[in-house]
Amino acid sequence: MKYLIANWKMNSLDISDWILKFENNCGEISSRETLQIVICPNFLQIPFFIEKSAFSKYLLTGSQDVSEKDPGPFTGQVSSKHLSNFSEIDYCIVGHSEQRMAGDTNAIVFQKIQKLINEKISPIVCVGESLETKESGDRENFLFKQLESFSNFENLKSNSIIIAYEPIWAIGTGISAEISSIRESIDFIKATLETKNIQSEILYGGSVNAANSKEILSEKNISGLLVGNASLDGEEFAKIAQNF
Ligand code: 13P
Repeated sequence: MKYLIANWKMNSLDISDWILKFENNCGEISSRETLQIVICPNFLQIPFFIEKSAFSKYLLTGSQDVSEKDPGPFTGQVSSKHLSNFSEIDYCIVGHSEQRMAGDTNAIVFQKIQKLINEKISPIVCVGESLETKESGDRENFLFKQLESFSNFENLKSNSIIIAYEPIWAIGTGISAEISSIRESIDFIKATLETKNIQSEILYGGSVNAANSKEILSEKNISGLLVGNASLDGEEFAKIAQNF
């Protein structure tokens, strides 16, 4: 299976207009059986997106995050049980570097993964190093610790999990990581998970756009893309979809 995930982050889009632009420009792209195209709007826009995309034969809905807690006195949070009230939500991003910077530790990310799996929502787990870590030559060690924090979870062997490798230094800069660097990290992630008997699809994210997506997708161990800025424009996102 291939995946194209849009992370709209804290942007409010004109959803009807976005869907129109996407549908008008995507032409004939792969069907849902081989390519899952998942849009992650902010929490408030999720119900509206579900309603407006109901006719689309391509678009699916995901969440940008979830609480690690069960429903209760946790101001401002949204639980996996709330997400599962929407049967249309099959995916949820966790461990995004922007959430890790806001306080999500590896332990919290693991709790979020567990909550999602309990609700049969597939986690899209973001991992990735800072520029400082990369330059200090500590990248593999850093990635290993992030992967190790959840990969001993027995239930992962029977549930689907998606890993998104997003080097922090490539996010939102307009300059994607070099292909050789992406390859090294993705191969390392794949090999590490295989030692735990976890078969995972691995995506790349970080300044992906229509122009660079084809080359990134040609890498054999890359199963898809997690796209921020370039996903805000329905036409550009449709062009990326055509490269699958
Ligand atoms: P950009 O595509 O804007 O670099 O964002 C990547 C990202 O953070 C997706 O989760």
